[in-house]
Amino acid sequence: MHIAVVGAGSLGSLLGGLLAREHDVTLVGRDPHMARVASDGLSVTGVEGFRVSPSARTTVPDAADLAVVAVKSHDTAAVAAQLADCDLGACLSVQNGMGNEDTLVDALDCPVLAGTCSYGARLAGPGTVAFTGRGEVVLGAREGGASEPAQRVGAAFVDAGVETTVAADMPRRLWAKLAVNAAVNAATALARVENGALAEGPGAELAADAARETARVARERGVDLADERAVSLTRQVVRDTAANRSSMRQDVEAGRRTEIDAINGYVVRVAETPVPVNETLTRLVRTWERGRVDSG
Ligand code: PAF
Repeated sequence: MHIAVVGAGSLGSLLGGLLAREHDVTLVGRDPHMARVASDGLSVTGVEGFRVSPSARTTVPDAADLAVVAVKSHDTAAVAAQLADCDLGACLSVQNGMGNEDTLVDALDCPVLAGTCSYGARLAGPGTVAFTGRGEVVLGAREGGASEPAQRVGAAFVDAGVETTVAADMPRRLWAKLAVNAAVNAATALARVENGALAEGPGAELAADAARETARVARERGVDLADERAVSLTRQVVRDTAANRSSMRQDVEAGRRTEIDAINGYVVRVAETPVPVNETLTRLVRTWERGRVDSG
């Protein structure tokens, strides 16, 4: 299968590297990382160490059986516009935040699948990605139910040794992931702490409050996500990723725009009842963003 991984940052590079052990992979990302992969291949270090030689470029290819979209949520619209001219069999989003699949559906003719990915990765330098934690890709029809394209994509991922579940309840899983991101990302970015700092004390209370609010909004929108489930998933992710710096903390420390609008900001936008914790976290991160270093 020809798979284009669009957004070959840390997670995109790791997924692309794993998939390249079995498939014809094209990584689409930024230089100097892409230039180094094109000349020397991609080196994966850490949990598993190997080297693969995917194609690497800075623009999307003309065609692919599958596009895996791994860009930051605020880049989804631009990527969707580029992919609209690409002959695609299917597209899978493995991004953080809500609304990405809708943006892709509006631009593309092919089936768009929803996905979550809990693998851990960090770009160690041009041409090298550190594999920091085993995880799982969960994918399926974005509106839920059975999906033939999801089965096909799931089988291709399994063939490459990627831990994969094809799920019929993606709306609930996307909201559960949103609850975890709403609980962990902004708090760790603002307090500049590792995820494990939310395991107890005031950080744990804040995270649980944000997760509960998100679960309530999910239920307002007809998605069956109990408060306790959102809180226990958050606790589990905090435990499992205790030593990690969340993606939003990494963005803040690098002076980059964050995904706040697609995470806590999304909860605030669609809530029918007050969500004060998500609102405060959103306002604080937006306040930081107004003065950030990189205005891109
Ligand atoms: O965005 C992230 O950092 C991750 O999705 C998560 C699960 C919060 C772990 O750091």
